[in-house]
Amino acid sequence: DRRAIIFDLDGVIVDTAKFHFLAWRKLANDLGFDFTKEQNEQLKGVSRVDSLKKILEWGDMELSEEEFQKQMALKNENYLSYVDGMDDGEILPGVKKVLDYLDENQVPYALGSASKNARPILKKIDLYHRFDAIVDGTDVSKAKPDPEVFLIAAEKLNVEPQQCVVFEDSVAGVQAANIGGMLSVGIGAKDVLHEADHVFTDFTEIELNFIDKLLNTEKK
Ligand code: BG6
Ligand code: MG
Repeated sequence: DRRAIIFDLDGVIVDTAKFHFLAWRKLANDLGFDFTKEQNEQLKGVSRVDSLKKILEWGDMELSEEEFQKQMALKNENYLSYVDGMDDGEILPGVKKVLDYLDENQVPYALGSASKNARPILKKIDLYHRFDAIVDGTDVSKAKPDPEVFLIAAEKLNVEPQQCVVFEDSVAGVQAANIGGMLSVGIGAKDVLHEADHVFTDFTEIELNFIDKLLNTEKK
């Protein structure tokens, strides 16, 4: 049975996870507190609004609705200033080789991202037209770990969730893939992403024949 692949964007296709971290950290620092890299793992894959809620909990702070909206807008402005100069050089090592391989073998693939900035970023790195479907933070109502974003992507690719392999760098995203009945491949640290079916530090560790294997294995 033919399978399809769904890629997360930030931290999987492109090295933007570091920019989200910088921008959230600046926001916290400006509000007078800080958070750690370990805490940041809990923000990966999480929507903008849920991220700010978590960060405010860490700082034991409450904001008025108006101030909350203002802080979200400020964070995004800062984030966009960091990604502004980005080009296809920021595509993570090994990613293009995998995309080329999928193209050669006519394996369909989609993007499944929580980010509302996903489309402009894909354009910046010149990958926008390569995806068979794009589902991002502007298309969903439920954030990861809810599987909605991946289920919509599967539907757009015309495959069953069980036929999909998801590449994710976030705990929330791995959980979303698992809940959706998809095979999950973590990109990052094994101890953080231990819920994934497979984990690799990055795409350079993934052999192309492993991609074949993934496309032919059933989710347990
Ligand atoms: C996810 C990132 O892809 O998108 C999160 O991992 C980010 O860090 C989320 O908060 C929402 O992104 P944006 O661009 O809509 O603020
Ligand atoms: Mg990510």
